[in-house]
Amino acid sequence: MSEKILSGALKCIDNEFASPKMSDGFSSRELDPVRKFHSQLPGYSRTPLHALDGLAKQIGVGKILLKDEDYRFDLNAFKVLGGSFAIAKLLGKKYGLADSDLTLENIKKHIDQPMTFTSATDGNHGRGIAWAAEKLGQKAVIYMPVGTAAERIKNIENLGAEVIVTDCNYDDTVRIAYDTSCNNGWEFIQDTAWEGYTDIPLWIMQGYATIVSESIEQFDEAGLVPTHIILQAGVGSMAGGVLGAFANHYGPGTLTSLIVEPEKADCIYRSGKAGDVVYVSGELDTIMAGLACGEPCTIGWDILKNNATGFFSCDDSLAATGMRILANPVPGDSKVVSGESGAIGIGALYALANHPDGQTVMKHFGLDSNSVVFVLSTEGNTDPVNYQKVVWGGSHSASF
Ligand SMILES: Cc1ncc(COP(=O)(O)O)c(C=O)c1O
Repeated sequence: MSEKILSGALKCIDNEFASPKMSDGFSSRELDPVRKFHSQLPGYSRTPLHALDGLAKQIGVGKILLKDEDYRFDLNAFKVLGGSFAIAKLLGKKYGLADSDLTLENIKKHIDQPMTFTSATDGNHGRGIAWAAEKLGQKAVIYMPVGTAAERIKNIENLGAEVIVTDCNYDDTVRIAYDTSCNNGWEFIQDTAWEGYTDIPLWIMQGYATIVSESIEQFDEAGLVPTHIILQAGVGSMAGGVLGAFANHYGPGTLTSLIVEPEKADCIYRSGKAGDVVYVSGELDTIMAGLACGEPCTIGWDILKNNATGFFSCDDSLAATGMRILANPVPGDSKVVSGESGAIGIGALYALANHPDGQTVMKHFGLDSNSVVFVLSTEGNTDPVNYQKVVWGGSHSASF
């Protein structure tokens, strides 16, 4: 399929460069310690997997299984899984601990000098780093891009971290955080990779495997096997990590995987079209703040290039529509509180089912009454002001 444009909603392409394979760092040996580590953190429990049967019927697929990361610890988003595991691996390496010995208490016992962890964030990753630093009794300094919502800043400060808001976009904020960290001898824990900076982002991506481990358990309990997975991308670390972990379990190329992004920051979509990394620069002005990233994570991109089936670039109105659908469920379905970056997968499905040209895309990707579609709501209500504008005020309504 050449690029297909559903006007006012989304555009999509096939991944013509796909060559499904297992990904380095995503074998069972490497992933098994991840959930074990998270399980011993205070407040750990599995996040729910909702079967949205009423919505599935309306969309025209067999099942929609939505993993609800609003319930991840008390942090309203999945991101802490990556940052906490990377910090554990880093300190484990520093103090000579085996993966099997990575527990919070054990790591804490070994820390022999004060440490500062730093990172750049649109909100959720930095909140996870601040949370992990606080649990370890250490300091965090978190950099955030211009225009960050006040609530997201407050949530990080409430964990005892120092927040510095820059006057530039996410990708430039990452560079500022990196430079400052190097100059001060801090531990830089960033959820994106580039040439020469790959260990920590790989551990972060491995950290997301807990989502996959829990989901597989929940699929098995329900007697279901997914046929499709829809994952949203900012830099593509999460989508790469989750896809890498699913491929390890179900086999490469077994699931149809669709990667969704905001049109204003669609670096993975453009990379998918070109078959190589493409940057998007400028303001990255989208309501999907967690996905407002213009420079792909190199190691995440490698996994997506090999294993993703298709790429979608979506209008902001689809994220808003997804939020409203999940907040006002079809009778019988669970209500899900999902923020802008969390709800885009459902918004994209809605567009495919309801746009006049959507059915051809559904057919092309094999979305039909036999499909079991996994969707990840990556965050809850992390920006209450905008959440209310969207869900109550009806802002960003769909135009098709
Ligand atoms: C809520 C939410 N969803 C999805 C993502 C995308 O993750 P990644 O940047 O690894 O692609 C983010 C990133 O911060 C996020 O905060």
